[in-house]
Amino acid sequence: MNKSCEKYIPFEPISLPDRTWPNKRITAPPVWCSVDLRDGNQALIDPMSVAEKLELFHTLVDIGVKEIEVGFPSASETEYEFLRALIDGGHIPDDVTIQVLVQAREHLIKKTFEAIEGAKHVIFHFYNSTSTLQRKVVFHTDMAGVTKIAVDAAKLIRELSQPAIAGGMDLRYEYSPESFMGTEMDNAVDICQAVIEALGSTRSNKVILNLPTTVENCLPNYFADEIEYFIRKLPSRDCAVISLHPHNDRGTGVATAELGLLAGAERVEATLFGNGERTGNVDLVTLALNMHTQGVDSGLDFSRITDVRHTYEKVTKMKVDPRQPYAGDLVFTAFSGSHQDAISKGVAYMKESHSPFWEIPYLPIDPADVGRDYEPIIRINSQSGKGGAAFVLQSFGYELPKAMHPEFGHIVQVETDRVGKELPAEHVLELFKSHYIDATHPYELLAHSFGDENGRVTFSGTLRHKDTVFQVSGAGNGPIDAFFTAIHGQKMDRFTFVDYKEHAIARGSDSMAVAYIHLKDQAGKDVFGVGISPNINLAPLKGILSAINRSVNRD
Ligand code: KIV
Ligand code: ZN
Repeated sequence: MNKSCEKYIPFEPISLPDRTWPNKRITAPPVWCSVDLRDGNQALIDPMSVAEKLELFHTLVDIGVKEIEVGFPSASETEYEFLRALIDGGHIPDDVTIQVLVQAREHLIKKTFEAIEGAKHVIFHFYNSTSTLQRKVVFHTDMAGVTKIAVDAAKLIRELSQPAIAGGMDLRYEYSPESFMGTEMDNAVDICQAVIEALGSTRSNKVILNLPTTVENCLPNYFADEIEYFIRKLPSRDCAVISLHPHNDRGTGVATAELGLLAGAERVEATLFGNGERTGNVDLVTLALNMHTQGVDSGLDFSRITDVRHTYEKVTKMKVDPRQPYAGDLVFTAFSGSHQDAISKGVAYMKESHSPFWEIPYLPIDPADVGRDYEPIIRINSQSGKGGAAFVLQSFGYELPKAMHPEFGHIVQVETDRVGKELPAEHVLELFKSHYIDATHPYELLAHSFGDENGRVTFSGTLRHKDTVFQVSGAGNGPIDAFFTAIHGQKMDRFTFVDYKEHAIARGSDSMAVAYIHLKDQAGKDVFGVGISPNINLAPLKGILSAINRSVNRD
């Protein structure tokens, strides 16, 4: 052995050539179970306090999670206290089931029964490790040994449940063959079947069989084969709900859960933003929103994802990565010019076509579905293109004509290169104002009036050029034409008119007109100007002077 990779034993997939899961689709959500307050809490540097756990519990309830693992009450005083606070404080809605975890050990099982007294709906979750590796290096036992541990625990739990059930508690059982992913599949089937029999599970009183990738050790497709195989082989399959509990060691927890669902699983245990031991558990948010974007209602409400994220960050003291799917700061942001352009076109297409479908490139989800804005979708740095700067101006109400995009894009790019970092939207607006709207020198319109003469518009006005004030007048087909006639013979008339666009823009309670003017100078070079005024006839004239001033100042 001379390479460090040679010391690893590669995963040996099972043979399942007639697998059916690749042809399946996810058409309904699984039963969701949150393990934030257990697996998630266990993995924190500073575990949550009772108050923090309560806050997170209420957040999970608000999201719509109906099964919530609330801890390991036999293992820690805080978890016991928290469970009692939940029950005694009446925090558990009637349609929410709490889940408690316990190792398959007698004294811990007994203590767990004490902890759940008074709860209405409970899942009693017990586990023991079954993998080849754990049997060999941790427990020094064979399959018969670990099966005995599970079966003895199942019998004890069944027996101790009777008074609680008689007292009206809705009590269900869950068994996890911990390290399922490293257990021989036939052994996993046998131990789970033995547990079903010991618990006396039936079709109307099913056990939850939770099949964890305690440590993710294989490709998601191999895992899906295992799930399909397990389900086919389990004799009392109809007495069980098949649950997944993926961890994320290979970074494929979401794919493992999704393919596991295709393979027949019906329930998933997950955590918000993938919190949990080591690389974490599978991320509930990503799983649910992936379904949402495939047209499947997940049954969970992430319409205020930023609030969920803030609560999560506050109570766990963990940080959500800026690139975290759906929730990260940067996931609805495009810096690249071509992406910005395509997004702007998609937004325009949606507006014009009234398409009932979400058809915007580079945005797999409508940010509004998770309570986020369009505004920061396009942000400006040196990678950004001409369309991006124009898109940012849209959020301030300016609809630049296409012909202006390259020129303004260039102005913005020069500035991003100068400052060497991202330009906030307000800075882009400032550039627009200072380059166009504030281009009011050397030519300035001091006074003006329009009239009507034989159906033609007349213009007379007072202009200033530096220290010289002069009068002009003229007539034309419209205000712009009349103004151009009026300045004929002045130095300004070396420009020809190409095009203009005007629209209203709301300013507080007032409405302003903004006019974009496109001229050409004598050399045939494009010149743009922008005028803004409460008067729709005046805005284009200011725009013409802005264009002329910009050209004169450039010469
Ligand atoms: O990851 C795991 O195997 C667990 C079990 C206790 C279900 O958390
Ligand atoms: Zn786990």
